[in-house]
Amino acid sequence: MRVIAVALLAMPLLAQHGRYLSDSNNPAIGNPQAIAAGEKLFMGSCAGCHGPDGGGGARGPNLVRRSLWHPLSDEAIFGVIRKGVPGTDMPPTKLADEQTWNLVAFIHALTGPASTNPVPGNPEAGKAIYWGAKAGCGKCHAVRGEGGRMGPDLSNVGGSRPLAVIRESIVEPGKDLFYLGNEAVTVVLKDGQTLSGVAKNRSNYSLQLVDAKGKLHLIPMSDVKELTISETTPMPTDYAKRLTREELRDLLAYLAKQDIRAGEKKGSK
Ligand code: HEC
Ligand code: HEC
Repeated sequence: MRVIAVALLAMPLLAQHGRYLSDSNNPAIGNPQAIAAGEKLFMGSCAGCHGPDGGGGARGPNLVRRSLWHPLSDEAIFGVIRKGVPGTDMPPTKLADEQTWNLVAFIHALTGPASTNPVPGNPEAGKAIYWGAKAGCGKCHAVRGEGGRMGPDLSNVGGSRPLAVIRESIVEPGKDLFYLGNEAVTVVLKDGQTLSGVAKNRSNYSLQLVDAKGKLHLIPMSDVKELTISETTPMPTDYAKRLTREELRDLLAYLAKQDIRAGEKKGSK
């Protein structure tokens, strides 16, 4: 009885957070050899249209970005490779099952959640970088209840984003305007006070502003003299320079592990 209750409770959670459906138990998924073999096939047959890193080209879409709004299960990717997408340039193939799965494993590594793929680097070192002063990520981003509130919570970033997308968020922040609901604002109040931070909720009547210290200000718009909304992200934009290549790699290894379902997955394997 208890088991059934737990299973029922887990379902809506999965539905909510499971933007990517990794429904396949095929051993190729997450297997470094299969991924390498799939990469070879991809370079030969697919990169001409989709770009060598799946980033898109003149004749095929960016597979990494596409996965964010059109997530496919591993089985569905298998089907797409076999049958193509009728009525479009995406051609069918005649690859053997094993080769097809190798390709699926490579595409999963590109577009699936970072936590379901092998990621290079040292997560423990990355954790120290995340919470340390040089990067200061923890000042703005919480992980499992600890850390700041100015930026989005990253407790499930590895469970919900491909590695390439996490990397891009750090080295080219704001590129894809993920920050709807995270606008950087400066507010001048009628009493002369100036506040800056991130607007979490903004209506014609009120504004919720989280400042750099993580403090929440509830401001009635009737108190506001001037509101300036920045066109750029509140996230620092110099991490590509501030962090060494190794530091970035280790930081990504740490973030890739942030998956709220990690415990469950281990249990079910
Ligand atoms: C001639 C160009 C071309 C080649 C070669 C090609 N693709 Fe595509 N692919 C496309 C186009 C165009 C689409 C978008 C189809 C659509 O509009 O739904 C696409 C879509 C896809 C999708 C996403 C489907 C979806 O529903 O989201 C996947 C996955 C994919 N291709 C993988 C591959 C793989 C793997 C190969 C190599 C075996 C490959 N493609 C070769 C052009 C190509
Ligand atoms: C001054 C506060 C601040 C600091 C410091 C900061 N960020 Fe951010 N970050 C933000 C805000 C605000 C957003 C949302 C706006 C955006 O996406 O550009 C964001 C977005 C992100 C995203 C995208 C989140 C998503 O939902 O896709 C990631 C990943 C991220 N930050 C990681 C980091 C890492 C790693 C560091 C440290 C190297 C860091 N941030 C440092 C404020 C910050």
